[in-house]
Amino acid sequence: MKDYIVFSLSANKKLASEVASSLKVPLGEVEVKHFADGEVLVKSLTDVKNKDVVIIQSTSDPSFDRLFELLLFINSLKNQNPKSISLFIPYFGYSRQEVPYNNEPNSFQVVCDILDTAGVDKILTFDLHNPDEEHLKTEFVNLHSAPLFIDYFKKVFEEEGLANKDLVIVAPDHGGNLRAHNVLNGFDGSQLIVLTKYRPEPNSAEHLQTSEDLTGKTCLIIDDIIDTGGTLISAAKLLHSRGAKEIFVAATHAVISNNPENKLFESGVKQIVVTNTIEKDLDEDIKVLDILPLILEQL
Ligand code: R5P
Repeated sequence: MKDYIVFSLSANKKLASEVASSLKVPLGEVEVKHFADGEVLVKSLTDVKNKDVVIIQSTSDPSFDRLFELLLFINSLKNQNPKSISLFIPYFGYSRQEVPYNNEPNSFQVVCDILDTAGVDKILTFDLHNPDEEHLKTEFVNLHSAPLFIDYFKKVFEEEGLANKDLVIVAPDHGGNLRAHNVLNGFDGSQLIVLTKYRPEPNSAEHLQTSEDLTGKTCLIIDDIIDTGGTLISAAKLLHSRGAKEIFVAATHAVISNNPENKLFESGVKQIVVTNTIEKDLDEDIKVLDILPLILEQL
């Protein structure tokens, strides 16, 4: 076992403290101060010289504050010469802005360049929006929450007496194909369909019609993010219109802006399952799975 010290900044306090106590290692002490003009000063109060440091910080809303806090903190640690720094970014903000259209910036690449400059040894995240392209020079690991979803839904479907042949795993867009496949692998004999999504305008999602006959089928939609809920609401409506008996949703990151929960349940979704990559208060009907075991496997 390495000589770890685990640090939490503002985003994942509960998770970081659980990682430290599971590893039986100290949770480092952090001091955060603000100057009169709002500028932040953040530093470690724990000595990290020659230690293997683990930082856990999602760059979730407010993404800029969390990213900047992280960058300053990494710099403060490096001044103390730790042996290594592993950075877990459970939810990687700006990861959806990775294909620049119409003179837009490649915001994700900008964030990756900044993190490369910050100079940690390894960056780990969960279900990155588009894991196909290499944006970071730093050693990078994209972890999958599929094993959590498989374990959880195996129990749910077993209790329902559902046979895998009556289960359809659904990718709500082509970008979600790999994530849906990862879950499909846990349900031998089930089927996968990939829907075609388009966005008539930002923050609005619609799907093209599908010819699949889903009469009597249970659908499990797999997505990386629930934000406005538009993608899942549109997908659920389409699946119902094709005869789906019931619809479950599993999405890794509960970004959840503008309280879409009611609309999601009204669209006929039976259960919504997310993970705790983002720590926030969620509707009590949303089931939250814990990524802690997947983090511990990496340490
Ligand atoms: C988009 O391609 C992503 O995979 C998610 O489907 C999307 O970010 C979800 O956003 P919303 O809930 O706003 O539709």
